[in-house]
Amino acid sequence: PLTTPKNMFDRAYKEGFAVGAFNVNNMEIIQGIMAACDEERSPLILQVSAGAKKYAGLVYIRKLVEAAVADKDLPVVLHLDHGANYEICKEVIDAGFSSVMIDGSHLPFEENIAETKKVVEYAHDKGVWVEAELGRLAGMEEHVYSEKSIYTDPDEAVEFVERTGCDSLAIAIGTSHGAYKFKMDAEPELDFERLDTIASRMPGYPIVLHGASSVPQEFVTECNAYGGQVEGAKGVPEALLRKAASKAVCKINIDTDIRLAMTAAIRKSLADNPTNFDPRKYLGPAREAVKNMVAHKIRHVLGSSNKI
Ligand code: G3H
Ligand code: 13P
Ligand code: ZN
Ligand code: NA
Repeated sequence: PLTTPKNMFDRAYKEGFAVGAFNVNNMEIIQGIMAACDEERSPLILQVSAGAKKYAGLVYIRKLVEAAVADKDLPVVLHLDHGANYEICKEVIDAGFSSVMIDGSHLPFEENIAETKKVVEYAHDKGVWVEAELGRLAGMEEHVYSEKSIYTDPDEAVEFVERTGCDSLAIAIGTSHGAYKFKMDAEPELDFERLDTIASRMPGYPIVLHGASSVPQEFVTECNAYGGQVEGAKGVPEALLRKAASKAVCKINIDTDIRLAMTAAIRKSLADNPTNFDPRKYLGPAREAVKNMVAHKIRHVLGSSNKI
């Protein structure tokens, strides 16, 4: 059934795992994720960005997720990723989403609080979960480019959560969106001390990690071997993500790894079968690649197998 993250995060916090939040844009992505979670008996979050909503259309996304929920006996959260303002949050709540993110991380502190509070009031009245964000990830976030990241200040985090009543908080501790998270010669690091400080100030409170793809090199290599140009792509090492999942981080966002898995499979399929022009013959392998990537993630990074 469609559910809120409440029970998932309570259990994730206590048992030291994280729930995967996967960005979805079309049927094959949704089916691949659902198949993996079904096999692993893992809870999951399907999240929709403004770009996904525009690409597929709100009705299509909503109905595809409805189909997924009808097809598999799994607890599923339908979540808005990076809601830019109150209006888009309200729109998807009215359309039946069980969770929204209001991303006011680019706003001054007081404005972020005001906008988040407004969303919390509307959402909680309807039983909908609210994720907010404090701190800035480097790179693109909600159409705002940030050259450098600004790590989340623990004092501000406590005040923000108290004053807004948001249900979970995305923080900046060194991750970033996309496939180029760290320089090739740099040793990737996350600020676990900061995470622990924030967690100790808000015991039991679920923390969210955006920009948490690991950018598996096998996908990068395969893309590049079949005509792609994604040299230098580098993600968050799995060991760091596992460590985050074992702590207060209850939700780990994954989009880039889905994109890479699909694109590698499609490039390979088209190169291996130059006479094929049946989309099912390359979208099928792409769906399978998403499934395998998600199953690996559940087993080796999230730790969410058999946590339903
Ligand atoms: O955090 C952003 C997600 O990766 C969604 O990306 O806005 O291109 O759909 P998108
Ligand atoms: P990645 O780009 O690391 O997959 O992050 C996705 C994300 O944070 C979506 O909100
Ligand atoms: Zn994000
Ligand atoms: Na956790």
